[in-house]
Amino acid sequence: MYFLSPSMLASDYSRLGEEIRTIDEAGTPYIHVDIMDGNFVPSINFGMPVVRAFRKMTDKVLDVHLMVEEPDRYVAEFADCGADIITVHAEACTHLHRTLQHIRSLGKKAGVALNPATPLSVLDYVLDEADMILLMSVNPGFGGQPYIPAVTGKIRDLREKLTAAGKDTDIEVDGGINLKNLSEILDAGANVIVAGSSVFKGDAAANVRAFLEAMRAY
Ligand code: DX5
Ligand code: ZN
Repeated sequence: MYFLSPSMLASDYSRLGEEIRTIDEAGTPYIHVDIMDGNFVPSINFGMPVVRAFRKMTDKVLDVHLMVEEPDRYVAEFADCGADIITVHAEACTHLHRTLQHIRSLGKKAGVALNPATPLSVLDYVLDEADMILLMSVNPGFGGQPYIPAVTGKIRDLREKLTAAGKDTDIEVDGGINLKNLSEILDAGANVIVAGSSVFKGDAAANVRAFLEAMRAY
């Protein structure tokens, strides 16, 4: 299954409710919610109360990407706020295995995110605990950056690794995705697509529909 996950980081924060309604009604299955702590990544954006408000506005899957140091401290709270998928960075967890188990124990899907420079080998002993692997295709912290081309080979390598392990774990790719490079990313083996600026710049409803149409071919 293929899923679009528009990133609220790129939305107009003065119209958050309207932006959620627009992408929800346009048919997006997932909504990507980036959380930044000003420590793991340089920037700070929104936190738990905003996720709780999103939960009231939509029934779609809330795909929460924690760009936060030692996220174990916060996963219970994000679960309580209504997150459906909670993704943590391997680089930010001292006890990644435990954190993934913690997320699942809360009844949520557990994701592991890797920065562009982080090798896939960090996943070797946690594949059984992960429902999704998020490959960053930009350095995390900001929307609107260009896609790093080397990540396409990394997606392919990860899909091969998962298949060899007998798993069909979701592969999410995040950063710099647009309608032009989408097919290269899907062809490589990704099935969850984050799109920030390419959805919210211009007509968000039309952009969601265009992504969904392009993904329907897969
Ligand atoms: C980057 C965030 C992304 C970001 C993607 O640190 O994790 O989710 O919103 O934005 P675009 O699609 O504009 O690169
Ligand atoms: Zn993200």
